[in-house]
Order: sequence, then structure tokens, then C-alpha cells
Amino acid sequence: MTQDELKAQVGQAALQYVVAGEVVGVGTGSTVNHFIAALAIMKDRIAGAVSSSNASTTRLQALGIKVFDANEVGDVAVYIDGADEIDSRGFMIKGGGAALTREKIVAAQCRRFVCIADESKLVDVLGRFAVPVEVIPMATQRLVRQFAALGGSARVRLKDGQPLVTDNGQHILDVSGLAIADPIGFETEVNQWPGVVTVGVFAHQKASVCLLGTADGIRTLVY
Ligand code: 5RP
Repeated sequence: MTQDELKAQVGQAALQYVVAGEVVGVGTGSTVNHFIAALAIMKDRIAGAVSSSNASTTRLQALGIKVFDANEVGDVAVYIDGADEIDSRGFMIKGGGAALTREKIVAAQCRRFVCIADESKLVDVLGRFAVPVEVIPMATQRLVRQFAALGGSARVRLKDGQPLVTDNGQHILDVSGLAIADPIGFETEVNQWPGVVTVGVFAHQKASVCLLGTADGIRTLVY
């Protein structure tokens, strides 16, 4: 199976976690796009969605699914999202699609995080994928130096030759060269650095379940 077929498989399987009659939290990315497409079949059985990006909102609305502002709803039962890496404890790196801040906000509002990913995303130690960090632009160069002091190499993410601007009007640093043995400690520390909006290590908002698409079928990892 191709990587995209594995993503489609877990996107479809995630439907079993959607609670009828309730609002569902929806992430961002190519795996989630498969989930959104599958969700069309349930659209009359859910109250709507809370979305983590303008891109996902556009897809949901195109299917006729009502998208609520996060402030309009209380606790949400389940959040479905992909990951760039996930380890054996359910800790993740996210933000490859630049949506990490809203993803973390929606994840924090949801009781259960169901990660959907193809098997290439499962790692022993987080950090082979460069960690995305959303930053306030005026802090960029100081933060580059702070990551260098940790052994990381941070680069501003570009789009069409210019710094990519997130849905929140900020920039992304991609930090390579880190091996994150203590994801909770790392997330907690980097969160304290002035100018950091969101660090793409999801340890405090880790996965509850991961549906991992493999050549032999879906593996369900429960954390
Ligand atoms: C977007 C994300 C995505 O979940 C992550 O990048 C995985 O993407 P894909 O499903 O396309 O592999 O964090 O900000």
C-alpha cells in the first residue's frame, strides 16, 4: 500500500471514535483530509466540528458540516488529528502543516486525542523530524540562538521565498538536530521562552489512542 492509502485507511477508521450528536475536534493535514472526507457520511449525525485551521474549516464547510468557534462550545469528546512523529508513550511532534497552535488549543479542549498516522510516523525518540515552533517574528533570532544552545539548528520556514505566515499571523521555526528524550520537560521549558507561541511537541496534550496504518492493517495503540 502507498503511504496515502495507509493514511486513507486510518482516516476512515477514525469514524468509530466520533460521538453521534456531539461536536468533533478536527485537526489538519493530509491524513485528516481523509478523515474529513469520510466524515461526510456522518454529517447529519454530528452537531458539527471545531477546526484547527482555515484549511480544515474550508473542507468541513464544503461538505456542509457546521464549524463552531472554539469559544462557542465547551468540552469536546474527541479530537482527531495526524502527527509528524509519535512515540511509544503517545508523545508527538506536530506542526508540519503549520497549524500547531490551533491544534494544541483544540486538543486541550477535547477529552480524548485520537492520532491517525501511517507507520512511518512511529519513532523511538522524537526529533528526527524538525520540531516546528510558532514564534513572534521579533523574537526569531534570539530563539535561533536559544535552540543552538540546546544543540538544535533552527530555520525560518519559507513559502515562496518569504517567511511562511501562519493562520495566526506569526512565523514558524523548524528545529533540527534534537533528540527529545524528555518531551514533557522539553515542551515545558520551551513554552517559557519569550516569543514562543507554541512548541510542536505535544506531550502535555499527548495522544490517548493512535490508529497506525501498516501494510498488515491498522494497529491500535492505547496510551
Ligand atoms: C499539521 C500537523 C499534521 O498533523 C502533521 O503535519 C501530519 O500531517 P500529514 O497527515 O499530512 O502527514 O501537525 O500542522
